[in-house]
Amino acid sequence: MNQTKVLITRKWPASIEAELQTHFDVTLNEKDTPLSSSELKHALQNYDAVCPSVCDSLPAEVLTVKNKRCKILCNFGVGYNHIDISTAKKENLIVTNTPGVLTESTADIAMTLMLMSARRAAEGDRLVRSQQWQGWCPTQMMSSDVTGATLGLIGFGRIAQAMARKAHHGFGMKIIYFKPSPADQKIIDDLNALRCDTIEQVMQEADFVSLHCPGGEATRHLIDQKRLNLMRPTAHLINTARGDVLDTKALVESLTLHKIAGAGLDVYEDEPKVYPPLLELDNVSLLPHLGSATIATRTAMGKKVLNNLHAFFNKQNLPDQVI
Ligand code: DGY
Repeated sequence: MNQTKVLITRKWPASIEAELQTHFDVTLNEKDTPLSSSELKHALQNYDAVCPSVCDSLPAEVLTVKNKRCKILCNFGVGYNHIDISTAKKENLIVTNTPGVLTESTADIAMTLMLMSARRAAEGDRLVRSQQWQGWCPTQMMSSDVTGATLGLIGFGRIAQAMARKAHHGFGMKIIYFKPSPADQKIIDDLNALRCDTIEQVMQEADFVSLHCPGGEATRHLIDQKRLNLMRPTAHLINTARGDVLDTKALVESLTLHKIAGAGLDVYEDEPKVYPPLLELDNVSLLPHLGSATIATRTAMGKKVLNNLHAFFNKQNLPDQVI
C-alpha cells in the first residue's frame, strides 16, 4: 500500500474516489459535510496532500498551523480565491487547480442564466407550480429576446470566450468585452468582438452583462452601485464567477427599483448563505453554484487532481501549478 496520505475534503465522483484509492492511502469524506477550520488544520498536520474545493476556506490562520505534514494542496476547481495564496507560498505549500476542463459546462450555466433571466423562466415555473396560471394570454409575462442582443463580458478568459462563442454563433449576439489587454486576434475575428476601453462602457452598452473575473480582494465589489447604475433598465446581469465580485446589496437595489430588468446568479457572497432580500425578488434567477456540475466535468476535474498528485509524488512537472 502506498504510504502517501491524501485527504479529500468532500465527496467526489465515485470513479475518481476509487481510482485515488488504488494509488494512495486516501481518506474520503463519506458524510460530505464541509470541514471546520480545526479539521482543516488537523488535515494539514496529518496528510501529505490535502484536496480542498471552493467550500473549504484556507486563510492564513489555517495555513500557518504548526507541524505541517502537508506539502501540496490539490484544489478540486479552477478558482482558488478560498486559499490565501501568498500565505501558502510563504509556508512552502504547492497549490494546483483544474483549469480547462470546466470551461464549457460553466459557460453553459452562464447561457442558462442569461436565457432564464431574459425569458423569465424561473418566474414562469413558479407560476405553473402555484396553479395560479390562467392560460395563454397575449400580454402575459412578456420578456426580452436574447437572439441578436448585445452580450457584454467583464473579463475575457476561457469561460467568457466559450460563452461568447455560444452566444455569437448560436444566438447571433453581438459581443463586446472588457479585459485590460486585448484578446488574441483570431478569437476577436471569429466572434467579431469589440473590446471596450472601460468596464463602464460595457455596462452602458450591453443588453446582458456577464461577469468572468477571478474572485478575491482585487476584484471585490468590482461591480458596485455606481457601475450597476450605468446599465440600461432593460438589461440583465449574470454572475457565474465569484459572489464577491458583485455588491449584492447594490444589485438588490437595482432589481427592486427596476433600474435593471433582471439578474441571474450562480455564486454568492458568503456562500452558501444567500442575502435574504434576493429571495423575495421575482426578477432574479438563482442557482446553487452549478457551473461545473456535470458528471463529465466533475470527473474530468477529479482526473486533473489525480494527475497533479501523481506528478508531485513522482517528482515530475506539475500540469496545473498555481504556485
Ligand atoms: C471552480 O472550479 O472554481 C468552480 O467555481 C467550482 O467548481
